[in-house]
Amino acid sequence: LGDVYKRQIQKGVEIMTKPIAVGLLGLGTVGSGVVKIIENHQDQLIHQVGCPIVVKKILVRDLYNERDVKVDASLLTANVDDVSNDPDIDVIIEVMGGVEETKKHLLRALKQGKHVVTANKDLMALYGSELLAVATENGCDLFYEASVAGGIPILRSLVDGLASDRITKMMGIVNGTTNFILTKMSKYGSPYEEVLAEAQALGYAEADPTADVEGLDAARKMAILARLGFSMNIDLEDVQVKGITGITEEDLDYSKRLGYTMKLIGIAHRDGEKVEVSVQPTLFPDSHPLASVSDEYNAVYVYGEAVGETMFYGPGAGSLPTATAVVSDLVAVMKNMRLGVNGRSAVAPQYEKKLKSPSEIFSKYFLRIHVKDEVGAFAKITAIFSERGVSFEKILQLPLKEKGFAEIVIVTHKASQQDYEDILQQLRDLEIVHDVKSSYRVEGNGK
Ligand code: NAP
Ligand code: HSE
Repeated sequence: LGDVYKRQIQKGVEIMTKPIAVGLLGLGTVGSGVVKIIENHQDQLIHQVGCPIVVKKILVRDLYNERDVKVDASLLTANVDDVSNDPDIDVIIEVMGGVEETKKHLLRALKQGKHVVTANKDLMALYGSELLAVATENGCDLFYEASVAGGIPILRSLVDGLASDRITKMMGIVNGTTNFILTKMSKYGSPYEEVLAEAQALGYAEADPTADVEGLDAARKMAILARLGFSMNIDLEDVQVKGITGITEEDLDYSKRLGYTMKLIGIAHRDGEKVEVSVQPTLFPDSHPLASVSDEYNAVYVYGEAVGETMFYGPGAGSLPTATAVVSDLVAVMKNMRLGVNGRSAVAPQYEKKLKSPSEIFSKYFLRIHVKDEVGAFAKITAIFSERGVSFEKILQLPLKEKGFAEIVIVTHKASQQDYEDILQQLRDLEIVHDVKSSYRVEGNGK
């Protein structure tokens, strides 16, 4: 590492005297916010890092697109080499999205000794460990605070603020788009397609919003959180995922009637050595703090053995909130430059990955089924639950418009995922059960 250290010492001296040049990959929602913050907060940034920050080159796809921020046309390029090969550029800020091509750009940058700041959870969830290893080898920082929960400094809180504790659970709303959609659908009865279009127009959604609504974006963030929080190599495929596309108006109506609010929730839970990580629509009692997190806002509960319960809340998507996290990472890179300690903060996972089996994962469940309205139907259903020792917290039976059928809505007490899946299968096989309409996880204590 001799050459790396010499370079770091030289940079530490330079940073006191000359501006730091940044190369930006992307000038969309987040990239525009980054340029605005660097321009508008320049005084405060100089005060913190000791020198001006200059955006030297910006990679875009289309040089002639209209932009949310004014930049000199000479800064724009459609050729990544103009950014990567510029020897004056010390830090690459990646806010273009994408995985394979973007990974190549970042690996090249790191190997050339350029520090990287990224907001790209797709990339970090899939290749975070590899990129961090290359960064460390080359004495470079690779920071990715904006990749989880937008403007909330949750990664730094886990790594630094809670460094002395052992995290047992992280649970929260980590996707702004779906929270925006569910808020508008449940509060105002707005149609799904309309609110999704609104979230896209506001810059909350991913370029392909399927990742948001199918829960994949949240899953990537939960993989990143679990990796850091549990110091374990959690992969994306270890996260169980269910999105919001199957949620119906009826589901939202029933949750309201029973005093619940529906949220897309990420849960990472450790019991002893074993962990579970999932993303799924979940019902919370209206009185639960997560029930009142609305619109594009995110909130994450972090439970530590020593600290107990902490909650982090803030905007989870959008231009300036996300850019705040990106530029704060840039400040961290520059502070490390001054101290000559870049590339030394990433810590390898401490524990071997051990995942819980479905019989070790416990939750309460909401279930809505359509059944034949005949004598003994109810008894047959309850028998299936009691055979597995699963009892009911709430139950509601209503006649359906379709003659001869009834709707039964059940909220169970805690059951193992294995028992619950077996129960669902047995219900589906039951002749009197016309349809299992929906099923969701339930958290917190109801009224
Ligand atoms: P965006 O608005 O679609 O902007 C992407 C930018 O990158 C555009 O300027 C685009 O150029 C450029 N670009 C994309 N692919 C390119 C390519 N192959 N070559 C050259 N330029 C390319 O996306 P965004 O919402 O800012 O998101 C950027 C990243 O931040 C993503 O990884 C996203 O997941 C992450 N993120 C976003 C948010 C948010 O609230 N939006 C929050 C947290 C993290 P043109 O403008 O010429 O098309
Ligand atoms: N599409 C993401 C969201 C952007 O809605 O949360 C922030 O990561």
